[in-house]
Amino acid sequence: MKKVFITRRVFPEALMLLEKEGIEYEMHQGPPLAQEELIEKVKQIDGLICLLGDRIGREVLKAGRRLKIVANVAVGYDNIDVEAASELGIMVTNTPEVLTEATADLTFGLLLAVARRIVEGDKVVRKGGFHGWELDFLLGTDVQGKALGIIGLGRIGAAVARRARGFGMKVLYYNRMRKPELEQELDAEFVDFEKLLQRSDFVSVHLPLTSETHHLFSTEEFDKMKPTAFLINVARGAIVDEEALVGALKSGEIAGAALDVFEHEPEVHPELLRMDNVVLAPHIGSAARETRVRMAILAAENAVAAPSGRRPPNLVNPEVWEG
Ligand code: NAP
Ligand code: GLV
Repeated sequence: MKKVFITRRVFPEALMLLEKEGIEYEMHQGPPLAQEELIEKVKQIDGLICLLGDRIGREVLKAGRRLKIVANVAVGYDNIDVEAASELGIMVTNTPEVLTEATADLTFGLLLAVARRIVEGDKVVRKGGFHGWELDFLLGTDVQGKALGIIGLGRIGAAVARRARGFGMKVLYYNRMRKPELEQELDAEFVDFEKLLQRSDFVSVHLPLTSETHHLFSTEEFDKMKPTAFLINVARGAIVDEEALVGALKSGEIAGAALDVFEHEPEVHPELLRMDNVVLAPHIGSAARETRVRMAILAAENAVAAPSGRRPPNLVNPEVWEG
């Protein structure tokens, strides 16, 4: 019988799918496994379902002598050494599409929160600091008529652009490849990275974390942004050099930031915690119940396909597929 190990709690809907396929599974409960424990576990399994906080490096993969598939419950898979997996003939899958709209919603929520100082306002009210309507109290900035620069016009970037149009924003984008059809649909203007930084009032990052995008944002990039501009990051923390971001916020090189992800997650730079012009979220981009259930089911669908000889629907290293 084929066996799948699940590194953390997932929803019953995903477990039911494994049962229906006749797959034996073990779901780890309690604190995250140490690397050595994970290495021991993968020795006896055919499939691994993991979360983005699990580091699945070469050592773990090599230990999985029977391992056919690593199914990440996330669209980003920078936590997995895909190169090593491919060398070892192990399939890697992710959960695209099902979380696109929820993540775009959170992105826009953060954009509005930082522009209109919603979190600061909430704190003021709770502290008893609201003493009546004043013309110049807690002033933020308009969103309508402003330029939103989207870096990475993929699934989530495009969904954010659709929302931006509804809010009357001008959409600029930068992507490694131009997307003429999306440009038309979204009335989006393609610009190079530098122009995007110079022209945008809000810069929203929607790239995967790779060796190319690591620290794409550092001191030089913040220098190029408008002093009135905001950075929104709902992609991956390490795309932004967090130390440089703190510097740019302190010196007024940019006006503020809204972050769902952090360079050394779950740790957050202590200076960010003290800044009122920064909105912080605990990596909840896709955290709507329906979406998270769909992600878990999709990961289970991927995990059961491989041991049964079927091509997993969301293979990120298709070169491994021999079917
Ligand atoms: P996607 O559809 O693959 O979009 C990524 C876009 O980035 C693509 O358009 C891609 O261009 C572009 N790109 C990749 N590398 C680039 C580079 N070096 N320079 C310029 N453009 C580049 O992925 P998605 O579904 O939108 O997800 C994007 C990322 O969001 C994920 O990888 C994940 O890390 C993050 N995410 C975070 C949360 C959260 O909870 N905060 C939730 C979901 C996703 P091509 O079209 O040429 O490939
Ligand atoms: C979440 O960050 C994801 O990549 O799905």
